[in-house]
Amino acid sequence: MEVITDIRQMQQWADTTRARGQRIGLVPTMGYLHAGHLSLVAVARQHSDVTVASIFINPLQFGANEDLGRYPRDIERDRRLLTEAGTAFLFLPDAAAMYPEGFQTTVKVERMTRGLCGASRPTHFSGVTTVVAKLFHIVKPHVAVFGRKDFQQFVTIRRMVSDLSMDIEIIGAPIVREADGLAMSSRNAYLSGAERQAALCLSKALAAADTQVQRGEVDGLRVVAATRRVIADEPLARLDYATLADPDTLEEVSAVHGPTLLALAVYIGKTRLIDNCILDPFAKRCPLPDGRGSG
Ligand code: PAF
Repeated sequence: MEVITDIRQMQQWADTTRARGQRIGLVPTMGYLHAGHLSLVAVARQHSDVTVASIFINPLQFGANEDLGRYPRDIERDRRLLTEAGTAFLFLPDAAAMYPEGFQTTVKVERMTRGLCGASRPTHFSGVTTVVAKLFHIVKPHVAVFGRKDFQQFVTIRRMVSDLSMDIEIIGAPIVREADGLAMSSRNAYLSGAERQAALCLSKALAAADTQVQRGEVDGLRVVAATRRVIADEPLARLDYATLADPDTLEEVSAVHGPTLLALAVYIGKTRLIDNCILDPFAKRCPLPDGRGSG
Protein backbone atom coordinates (compact mmCIF):
# COMPACT_ATOMS: atom_id res chain seq x y z
CA MET A 1 0.00 0.00 0.00
CA GLU A 2 1.33 3.41 -0.96
CA VAL A 3 0.93 6.29 1.51
CA ILE A 4 0.27 9.80 0.20
CA THR A 5 0.32 12.73 2.59
CA ASP A 6 0.34 15.62 0.13
CA ILE A 7 -3.01 16.98 -1.16
CA ARG A 8 -1.70 18.02 -4.59
CA GLN A 9 -0.01 14.64 -5.11
CA MET A 10 -3.25 12.85 -4.19
CA GLN A 11 -5.19 14.97 -6.69
CA GLN A 12 -2.66 14.30 -9.45
CA TRP A 13 -2.83 10.57 -8.76
CA ALA A 14 -6.66 10.77 -8.93
CA ASP A 15 -6.54 12.63 -12.27
CA THR A 16 -4.17 10.06 -13.76
CA THR A 17 -6.22 7.15 -12.44
CA ARG A 18 -9.44 8.60 -13.83
CA ALA A 19 -7.77 9.30 -17.18
CA ARG A 20 -6.84 5.61 -17.33
CA GLY A 21 -10.55 4.81 -16.96
CA GLN A 22 -10.16 3.24 -13.52
CA ARG A 23 -12.87 3.56 -10.90
CA ILE A 24 -11.73 5.00 -7.55
CA GLY A 25 -13.33 3.82 -4.29
CA LEU A 26 -12.83 5.84 -1.09
CA VAL A 27 -13.20 4.78 2.55
CA PRO A 28 -12.83 7.84 4.79
CA THR A 29 -11.83 7.04 8.39
CA MET A 30 -10.34 8.62 11.49
CA GLY A 31 -8.09 5.58 12.06
CA TYR A 32 -7.82 3.17 14.98
CA LEU A 33 -9.35 0.66 12.63
CA HIS A 34 -11.46 -2.37 13.48
CA ALA A 35 -13.32 -5.03 11.53
CA GLY A 36 -16.12 -2.56 10.76
CA HIS A 37 -13.71 -0.31 8.84
CA LEU A 38 -12.21 -3.30 7.05
CA SER A 39 -15.69 -4.34 5.92
CA LEU A 40 -16.00 -0.89 4.30
CA VAL A 41 -12.75 -1.54 2.43
CA ALA A 42 -14.14 -4.89 1.24
CA VAL A 43 -17.30 -3.16 -0.06
CA ALA A 44 -15.24 -0.42 -1.74
CA ARG A 45 -13.09 -3.06 -3.46
CA GLN A 46 -16.22 -4.71 -4.87
CA HIS A 47 -17.32 -1.40 -6.40
CA SER A 48 -14.03 0.03 -7.67
CA ASP A 49 -10.78 -0.81 -9.46
CA VAL A 50 -8.58 0.90 -6.92
CA THR A 51 -9.37 1.56 -3.26
CA VAL A 52 -8.15 4.52 -1.25
CA ALA A 53 -8.58 4.77 2.52
CA SER A 54 -8.05 8.06 4.31
CA ILE A 55 -7.07 8.54 7.93
CA PHE A 56 -7.59 12.01 9.35
CA ILE A 57 -8.76 12.83 12.87
CA ASN A 58 -10.86 15.80 11.88
CA PRO A 59 -10.76 18.54 14.54
CA LEU A 60 -13.74 20.30 12.94
CA GLN A 61 -16.19 17.56 13.96
CA PHE A 62 -15.29 17.50 17.68
CA GLY A 63 -17.06 19.83 20.10
CA ALA A 64 -15.11 21.85 22.67
CA ASN A 65 -15.54 19.29 25.47
CA GLU A 66 -15.25 16.16 23.34
CA ASP A 67 -12.45 13.62 22.96
CA LEU A 68 -10.29 15.09 20.16
CA GLY A 69 -7.15 15.10 22.35
CA ARG A 70 -7.50 11.50 23.45
CA TYR A 71 -9.04 9.97 20.33
CA PRO A 72 -7.25 6.59 19.98
CA ARG A 73 -4.44 6.35 17.41
CA ASP A 74 -2.21 3.55 16.12
CA ILE A 75 -1.08 4.41 12.64
CA GLU A 76 1.36 1.50 12.22
CA ARG A 77 -1.34 -1.04 13.06
CA ASP A 78 -3.80 0.78 10.76
CA ARG A 79 -1.30 0.62 7.89
CA ARG A 80 -0.82 -3.10 8.41
CA LEU A 81 -4.57 -3.79 8.56
CA LEU A 82 -5.29 -1.71 5.45
CA THR A 83 -2.50 -3.43 3.52
CA GLU A 84 -3.83 -6.87 4.52
CA ALA A 85 -7.34 -5.78 3.45
CA GLY A 86 -6.08 -4.96 -0.04
CA THR A 87 -6.18 -1.15 0.15
CA ALA A 88 -4.06 0.29 -2.67
CA PHE A 89 -3.48 3.81 -1.27
CA LEU A 90 -3.68 5.51 2.10
CA PHE A 91 -4.26 9.25 2.13
CA LEU A 92 -2.81 10.58 5.38
CA PRO A 93 -2.88 14.37 5.48
CA ASP A 94 -2.08 16.54 8.50
CA ALA A 95 -4.37 19.16 10.02
CA ALA A 96 -2.23 22.08 8.84
CA ALA A 97 -2.62 20.94 5.22
CA MET A 98 -6.36 20.28 5.52
CA TYR A 99 -7.11 23.51 7.41
CA PRO A 100 -4.40 26.03 6.58
CA GLU A 101 -4.26 29.52 8.07
CA GLY A 102 -7.32 31.48 6.90
CA PHE A 103 -9.56 28.46 6.30
CA GLN A 104 -13.19 29.58 6.74
CA THR A 105 -15.50 27.56 4.47
CA THR A 106 -17.95 24.99 5.77
CA VAL A 107 -20.53 22.71 4.17
CA LYS A 108 -23.72 22.34 6.18
CA VAL A 109 -26.71 20.09 5.60
CA GLU A 110 -29.51 21.87 7.47
CA ARG A 111 -32.62 20.03 8.70
CA MET A 112 -31.48 16.45 9.02
CA THR A 113 -28.52 17.37 11.22
CA ARG A 114 -30.61 19.16 13.90
CA GLY A 115 -32.10 16.10 15.63
CA LEU A 116 -30.68 12.79 16.90
CA CYS A 117 -26.92 13.27 17.51
CA GLY A 118 -27.12 16.84 16.16
CA ALA A 119 -29.15 17.93 19.21
CA SER A 120 -26.28 17.28 21.61
CA ARG A 121 -23.46 17.79 19.05
CA PRO A 122 -24.58 20.97 17.21
CA THR A 123 -21.36 21.54 15.24
CA HIS A 124 -20.49 17.90 14.58
CA PHE A 125 -22.17 17.28 11.24
CA SER A 126 -20.98 20.47 9.54
CA GLY A 127 -17.48 19.34 10.56
CA VAL A 128 -18.14 15.95 8.96
CA THR A 129 -19.64 17.27 5.72
CA THR A 130 -16.89 19.87 5.36
CA VAL A 131 -14.09 17.33 5.68
CA VAL A 132 -15.86 14.74 3.52
CA ALA A 133 -16.48 17.35 0.79
CA LYS A 134 -12.78 18.20 0.96
CA LEU A 135 -11.77 14.53 0.78
CA PHE A 136 -14.04 14.11 -2.25
CA HIS A 137 -12.27 17.00 -4.00
CA ILE A 138 -8.86 15.55 -3.17
CA VAL A 139 -9.33 11.81 -3.82
CA LYS A 140 -11.97 12.31 -6.56
CA PRO A 141 -13.71 8.98 -5.92
CA HIS A 142 -16.42 7.45 -8.10
CA VAL A 143 -17.80 5.67 -5.04
CA ALA A 144 -17.42 6.22 -1.27
CA VAL A 145 -18.40 3.82 1.50
CA PHE A 146 -19.67 4.75 4.98
CA GLY A 147 -20.85 2.57 7.87
CA ARG A 148 -24.52 2.52 8.81
CA LYS A 149 -23.66 2.57 12.50
CA ASP A 150 -23.28 6.34 12.00
CA PHE A 151 -26.64 6.31 10.26
CA GLN A 152 -27.23 10.06 10.53
CA GLN A 153 -23.78 10.70 9.07
CA PHE A 154 -24.43 8.31 6.17
CA VAL A 155 -27.79 9.89 5.29
CA THR A 156 -26.42 13.42 5.72
CA ILE A 157 -23.51 12.73 3.35
CA ARG A 158 -25.89 11.20 0.83
CA ARG A 159 -28.02 14.38 1.07
CA MET A 160 -24.95 16.62 0.59
CA VAL A 161 -23.89 14.65 -2.49
CA SER A 162 -27.37 14.90 -3.97
CA ASP A 163 -27.90 18.58 -3.07
CA LEU A 164 -24.52 19.65 -4.46
CA SER A 165 -24.78 17.40 -7.55
CA MET A 166 -21.55 15.60 -6.71
CA ASP A 167 -21.06 12.75 -9.15
CA ILE A 168 -20.24 10.16 -6.47
CA GLU A 169 -22.06 6.99 -5.49
CA ILE A 170 -22.53 6.73 -1.71
CA ILE A 171 -22.84 3.24 -0.25
CA GLY A 172 -23.94 2.53 3.33
CA ALA A 173 -22.40 -0.69 4.64
CA PRO A 174 -24.07 -2.82 7.36
CA ILE A 175 -23.12 -2.46 11.02
CA VAL A 176 -20.44 -4.93 12.12
CA ARG A 177 -20.96 -6.29 15.64
CA GLU A 178 -18.89 -8.19 18.16
CA ALA A 179 -20.16 -11.74 18.79
CA ASP A 180 -22.13 -10.51 21.83
CA GLY A 181 -23.85 -7.73 19.90
CA LEU A 182 -21.81 -4.62 20.67
CA ALA A 183 -21.51 -2.51 17.52
CA MET A 184 -17.84 -2.04 16.63
CA SER A 185 -16.49 1.45 17.28
CA SER A 186 -13.05 2.96 17.82
CA ARG A 187 -14.50 4.48 21.00
CA ASN A 188 -15.08 1.00 22.49
CA ALA A 189 -11.37 1.23 23.36
CA TYR A 190 -12.28 3.72 26.12
CA LEU A 191 -14.44 1.17 27.98
CA SER A 192 -13.29 -0.57 31.18
CA GLY A 193 -14.18 -4.25 31.61
CA ALA A 194 -17.38 -3.43 33.51
CA GLU A 195 -18.31 -0.72 31.00
CA ARG A 196 -17.71 -3.08 28.08
CA GLN A 197 -20.27 -5.44 29.64
CA ALA A 198 -22.67 -2.57 30.36
CA ALA A 199 -22.41 -1.38 26.75
CA LEU A 200 -24.38 -4.45 25.67
CA CYS A 201 -27.47 -2.55 26.80
CA LEU A 202 -27.47 -0.66 23.47
CA SER A 203 -28.03 -3.69 21.24
CA LYS A 204 -30.31 -5.24 23.87
CA ALA A 205 -32.41 -2.07 23.88
CA LEU A 206 -32.77 -2.21 20.10
CA ALA A 207 -33.71 -5.88 20.33
CA ALA A 208 -36.38 -5.09 22.95
CA ALA A 209 -37.95 -2.51 20.64
CA ASP A 210 -37.80 -4.91 17.74
CA THR A 211 -39.58 -7.56 19.79
CA GLN A 212 -42.41 -5.10 20.45
CA VAL A 213 -42.74 -4.31 16.76
CA GLN A 214 -42.71 -7.99 15.80
CA ARG A 215 -45.56 -8.52 18.29
CA GLY A 216 -47.59 -5.92 16.42
CA GLU A 217 -46.89 -2.76 18.43
CA VAL A 218 -47.01 0.35 16.24
CA ASP A 219 -47.21 3.09 18.87
CA GLY A 220 -43.90 4.96 18.90
CA LEU A 221 -44.05 5.90 22.58
CA ARG A 222 -44.47 2.27 23.62
CA VAL A 223 -41.72 1.06 21.28
CA VAL A 224 -39.29 3.68 22.58
CA ALA A 225 -40.35 2.91 26.17
CA ALA A 226 -39.16 -0.68 25.67
CA THR A 227 -35.78 0.72 24.63
CA ARG A 228 -35.60 3.14 27.55
CA ARG A 229 -36.39 0.41 30.08
CA VAL A 230 -33.34 -1.65 29.04
CA ILE A 231 -31.03 1.38 29.31
CA ALA A 232 -32.56 2.42 32.67
CA ASP A 233 -31.88 -1.07 34.05
CA GLU A 234 -28.14 -0.70 33.42
CA PRO A 235 -26.54 1.28 36.29
CA LEU A 236 -23.50 2.40 34.23
CA ALA A 237 -25.64 3.72 31.37
CA ARG A 238 -27.23 7.13 30.84
CA LEU A 239 -29.51 7.67 27.85
CA ASP A 240 -28.78 10.67 25.61
CA TYR A 241 -31.61 9.92 23.19
CA ALA A 242 -33.70 7.11 21.75
CA THR A 243 -35.63 8.30 18.71
CA LEU A 244 -37.78 6.88 15.93
CA ALA A 245 -37.30 8.57 12.59
CA ASP A 246 -37.93 8.25 8.89
CA PRO A 247 -34.76 6.55 7.58
CA ASP A 248 -34.56 8.82 4.50
CA THR A 249 -35.38 12.26 5.91
CA LEU A 250 -34.55 11.63 9.61
CA GLU A 251 -37.80 13.44 10.54
CA GLU A 252 -39.10 12.07 13.85
CA VAL A 253 -42.10 9.74 13.61
CA SER A 254 -44.58 8.69 16.27
CA ALA A 255 -45.56 5.27 14.90
CA VAL A 256 -43.97 2.28 13.20
CA HIS A 257 -46.05 1.70 10.09
CA GLY A 258 -43.15 0.75 7.78
CA PRO A 259 -39.34 0.66 7.85
CA THR A 260 -38.42 3.03 10.69
CA LEU A 261 -35.06 4.05 12.09
CA LEU A 262 -34.59 3.51 15.81
CA ALA A 263 -31.44 5.39 16.77
CA LEU A 264 -29.93 5.78 20.21
CA ALA A 265 -26.99 7.38 21.94
CA VAL A 266 -26.01 6.25 25.42
CA TYR A 267 -23.27 7.32 27.80
CA ILE A 268 -21.49 4.34 29.33
CA GLY A 269 -19.52 6.07 32.04
CA LYS A 270 -17.95 8.99 30.14
CA THR A 271 -18.03 7.27 26.74
CA ARG A 272 -20.85 8.16 24.39
CA LEU A 273 -21.84 5.24 22.14
CA ILE A 274 -24.40 5.11 19.34
CA ASP A 275 -26.31 2.28 17.72
CA ASN A 276 -29.39 1.87 15.53
CA CYS A 277 -31.54 -0.53 13.60
CA ILE A 278 -34.33 -0.37 11.08
CA LEU A 279 -37.57 -1.64 12.60
CA ASP A 280 -39.86 -3.10 10.02
CA PRO A 281 -43.25 -4.61 10.91
CA PHE A 282 -43.46 -6.33 7.53
CA ALA A 283 -39.95 -7.69 7.12
CA LYS A 284 -37.66 -10.05 8.94
CA ARG A 285 -36.32 -8.86 12.26
CA CYS A 286 -33.91 -5.99 12.56
CA PRO A 287 -30.35 -7.27 12.13
CA LEU A 288 -29.04 -7.70 15.62
CA PRO A 289 -26.93 -10.29 17.44
CA ASP A 290 -28.23 -13.67 18.48
CA GLY A 291 -28.99 -14.55 14.87
CA ARG A 292 -31.91 -12.16 14.62
CA GLY A 293 -31.06 -10.30 11.49
CA SER A 294 -28.62 -7.40 10.83
CA GLY A 295 -28.56 -3.65 11.05
O1 PAF B 1 -16.99 8.24 10.42
C1 PAF B 1 -15.87 8.77 10.55
O2 PAF B 1 -14.88 8.13 10.89
C2 PAF B 1 -15.72 10.26 10.29
O3 PAF B 1 -16.83 10.96 10.71
C3 PAF B 1 -15.38 10.58 8.83
C4 PAF B 1 -16.51 10.18 7.88
C5 PAF B 1 -14.10 9.88 8.42
C6 PAF B 1 -15.18 12.09 8.66
O4 PAF B 1 -14.14 12.55 9.45
